[in-house]
Amino acid sequence: MKKTKFKATAKSPANIAFIKFWGKKNTKLNIPFNDSISMNLTNCVTTTTVEFNPRFRSDRVFLDRKEVKDEKKMRVLKIIDLVREKSNVVWGVKVVSKNNFPSDAGIASSASAFSALALAASVASGLNLSKKELSILARLGSGSASRSIVDGFAQWKKGTNNDTSYAVQIAPVIYWDLIDIVVVVESGKKKNSSTEGHSLAPTSPFYKTRQKLLPKRLKEIKSALLKKNFKKFGELLEEEAIELHMIAMTSKPPIFYWNKGTVEVINKLHEWREKGLLAYFTMDAGANVHVFCLAKDTKKINSRLKKIPEVLFTIINESSEGSQLFNKHLF
Ligand code: DP6
Repeated sequence: MKKTKFKATAKSPANIAFIKFWGKKNTKLNIPFNDSISMNLTNCVTTTTVEFNPRFRSDRVFLDRKEVKDEKKMRVLKIIDLVREKSNVVWGVKVVSKNNFPSDAGIASSASAFSALALAASVASGLNLSKKELSILARLGSGSASRSIVDGFAQWKKGTNNDTSYAVQIAPVIYWDLIDIVVVVESGKKKNSSTEGHSLAPTSPFYKTRQKLLPKRLKEIKSALLKKNFKKFGELLEEEAIELHMIAMTSKPPIFYWNKGTVEVINKLHEWREKGLLAYFTMDAGANVHVFCLAKDTKKINSRLKKIPEVLFTIINESSEGSQLFNKHLF
């Protein structure tokens, strides 16, 4: 092997889904029941450094300056072990990962985390994976991470097996001046992980109906995105978010993610729309709201959102490139 340093750093964005991944056909491989569509976010980023070193006696994983030893570590090591298998690098590993946004708050930190990990670990081991292979590797860590690998707007094709389930670009970063304002009304760890939500989803009596409705909605939202039809896009965005939460609320046992702040924000959007100020919401598996608007309205909408008493803070995001190598120390 030519390299002297088996170390690499990658930066990767979280993404917000317009059409959601909710329910797994294959839990081990994270194969979804349906395709999903998303936008990568400029200001919700994970930076991960992976180092393989013959001097490391054990594998260590640090997240936001704290060493993790539980199930989280196992999830990381699953990806590391896959990389070891492919690359034949058998040494101990050190993984150091930092988020610039609160972990576990319904801002998909697993998406940025596992996409950054897939890129950093594969490069550190000397592998030169294609975007497709990286998307597959990231997916094995967390389903939504498959979409953070590609630049801009992504569609994760559900596929039928490990090799056919990965994300592709549907529009580049600079395509449409869409803004996602993450409105944080709950910080800290959420009560139900999305992994739990995925396994409960098919227990909702409405899950089958959702699966029937999805192909048409996906086609329509993709077309609204490509035609830059904001009103149509926003209406479909909300329809999809409400449906995801309806599935969660009717799962057995039910999961209720919304809090008072969630409802306050949604009510305000309705009020503003009646007066001609266009903004629409979507949500992931948490109480926080992602408010979409066009760039020209960002300042006005953000300052109004911050005046809602339940709002803790907001994060303004544009569409972002996907996982990038950030390699100061290498080769
Ligand atoms: C509601 O990708 O976080 O954000 O594969 O178990 O890690 P795991 O699930 P994850 O699920 C994301 C769920 C969602 C919708 C979406 O991002 O598509």
